[in-house]
Amino acid sequence: MEYFDIHSHILPGVDDGSQSLEESMAMLDIAYQEGTRNVMLTPHYMRGRNQYNKEELKKRFVDFKQEVHRKYPDMQLYLGNEILYEDGIVDDLKAGLIQTMNDTKYVLVEFNIRISYNQLYQAIRKLTNARYRPIIAHVERYRCLFKHLERIDELVRMETYLQMNISSVYGGLLDEDARWCKKLVREGYISFFGTDAHDLENRAPYITDYVAWIEKKCGVDALEQMFVNNAKKMIENQYIID
Ligand SMILES: [Fe+2]
Repeated sequence: MEYFDIHSHILPGVDDGSQSLEESMAMLDIAYQEGTRNVMLTPHYMRGRNQYNKEELKKRFVDFKQEVHRKYPDMQLYLGNEILYEDGIVDDLKAGLIQTMNDTKYVLVEFNIRISYNQLYQAIRKLTNARYRPIIAHVERYRCLFKHLERIDELVRMETYLQMNISSVYGGLLDEDARWCKKLVREGYISFFGTDAHDLENRAPYITDYVAWIEKKCGVDALEQMFVNNAKKMIENQYIID
């Protein structure tokens, strides 16, 4: 299976992720060995606080892609932004300032982890009303969603997709966070996985051990849907129908 990592900070020198071409290549070495063949590069977008604008990011992306293809011709790279939601984000999207996922209507959005559910809900409504398809980045992080399956359920019914950081499923029975994450995965609420890789140490793009757990608990078809098929539809701007 050729895994798809939809959330990473591997594009060098543009945010708090990889700081050099060498570091990025070493991160991709790990990803390649782990069986990942498709990587969405999603540098942070923070309103008015970005080091590079969209055109500059794209240029850096094209250069990086050329470099990567010399070493790994079968590694596909795509560009997106991980958007920190704040007032005015929809205006920035409409103005074309933000890189959507591979230039589709899908947008990877993160929130302050202490956001209230009401605020989160309103933000999602603003995005969907503007015809974007929000993917909530690392859905397991937000306090207002923790152990609120009814809220999770409400969100996925509003054409919102949930991305989980793959390493979050790691943890034993006593680990409440991991238990909650496993529940979300088993019950089919997660559309995408990502590594959210930032570096070669604590946040490196390893997936093998976690993939094994998902395959064991959910079966190979569900694994393929969450790790390959949904992402393929997303990059083509197709609807993801579960
Ligand atoms: Fe991230």
